[in-house]
Amino acid sequence: MSDPKKLFIKTYGCQMNVYDSERMAEALGGQGYVETQSPDDADMILLNTCHIREKAAEKVYSELGRFKGLKAEKPDLKIGVAGCVAQAEGEEIMRRQPMVDLVVGPQSYHRLPAMEEAVGKGEKALDTDFPLDDKFDTLKTRPKAKRGPTAFLTVQEGCDKFCAFCVVPYTRGAEVSRPAERIVREAQELVEAGVREITLLGQNVNAYHGHEGGLAGLIWALDKVDGLERIRFTTSHPNDMDDALIEAHGTCDKLMPYLHLPVQSGSDRILKAMNRKHTRDQYFRLIERIRDARPDLLLSGDFIVGFPGETEEDFEDTMDLIRTVHYGQAYSFKYSTRPGTPAAEKPQLPDDVMDDRLQRLQALLREQQKASQDAMVGKTVTVLFEKAGREQGQMIGKSEHLHAVFAEAPDVAVGDLRQVAVTQSAPNSLGGTLLASAG
Ligand code: SAH
Ligand code: SF4
Ligand code: F3S
Repeated sequence: MSDPKKLFIKTYGCQMNVYDSERMAEALGGQGYVETQSPDDADMILLNTCHIREKAAEKVYSELGRFKGLKAEKPDLKIGVAGCVAQAEGEEIMRRQPMVDLVVGPQSYHRLPAMEEAVGKGEKALDTDFPLDDKFDTLKTRPKAKRGPTAFLTVQEGCDKFCAFCVVPYTRGAEVSRPAERIVREAQELVEAGVREITLLGQNVNAYHGHEGGLAGLIWALDKVDGLERIRFTTSHPNDMDDALIEAHGTCDKLMPYLHLPVQSGSDRILKAMNRKHTRDQYFRLIERIRDARPDLLLSGDFIVGFPGETEEDFEDTMDLIRTVHYGQAYSFKYSTRPGTPAAEKPQLPDDVMDDRLQRLQALLREQQKASQDAMVGKTVTVLFEKAGREQGQMIGKSEHLHAVFAEAPDVAVGDLRQVAVTQSAPNSLGGTLLASAG
């Protein structure tokens, strides 16, 4: 028997790409590939790319450049580009980097096996369709191999919101939801493979409509899966937070008290220009309702500074919104012009203005993140242990609020859920003492 072929996948961008990379590796597993951690011994290299900001997209070309030498040494090496840059640029990628053999978009990667075969015959393969056949129907059931205690599960794809700055509606296509029964089955398979926490993914996960009860209905269906202990979801849009989902945060024990709810800006003028379709007051009222349902909820957000036309006053409105809401975690970005989006037509702000605002915003967010983490000291948290720590006997896991937690835990195994008394707050993690097992 010949040795298995080796596949090296590098993933950029969001969690949905992480999930897609797993599924692409599984699909190519059927073609005799096993994954390798190094490009040097690979028979196929696949870059799963992100187009969200200019820097992310340009990285793909520099990365491809680095594989030129490898391809020259090993002409049979297959090089593929998948993900959102593949979708956005298609053939252009092969024009800029002729050594690329295969370009596949995020909605057509179930066709990878056939594409790989075509490349094996010396052809180039390109597929950036939004096919009618559902990729999830075509992909086989997931392998039963033992895996870690946490997993992502894509339940919804695409976006119909068309925020003025964003490429996602173009790279991922329209909003589509997977049927709830399929998701529950996939969750059961993941649990059989050792998973105890699932994060439901979607570009607009709370616009999920594959269950008559929406995302809350799906969460309650997953609540019944034995052995699944924790449910999370990301990313949500404020306008899709319905009553049932807010209520679930107060009543569903498996749903963790963490919510990523990006607002992007705190200025009504900018929110309007961004086409976010809600005001800052509506966002404040929504946050109040969610916190009424779940007072200890940790809020996370995304912010863009320097959107075209943003004045110092608009920026101050964003700072004020952050001070009012108080985030436990947040991601912030300098506005990046994306080809084909409505905002790209507008005059850009000078770079130094954006840099200055980003620094001020990030300083405030860091302060809040630290305060929210420090507030955990003295409390007891439940930790899902994920891996061994650097020191002997030490284990690392995540709390309900997604804080990384270290503890001396020599008898604890990966996948155990245990209570920890938090004793210290380090820059990006909490330290604590394991409490006696309550069984
Ligand atoms: N669907 C999600 C997020 C998609 S992209 C949502 O609606 O929240 C993740 C984040 O990238 C966005 O929330 C936004 O903050 C940021 N982003 C998107 N386009 C950007 C751009 N052109 N420039 C800078 N940041 C951007
Ligand atoms: Fe992009 Fe807006 Fe859709 Fe999020 S909701 S993916 S930011 S267009
Ligand atoms: Fe990037 Fe595409 Fe995700 S653009 S953020 S990989 S949806």
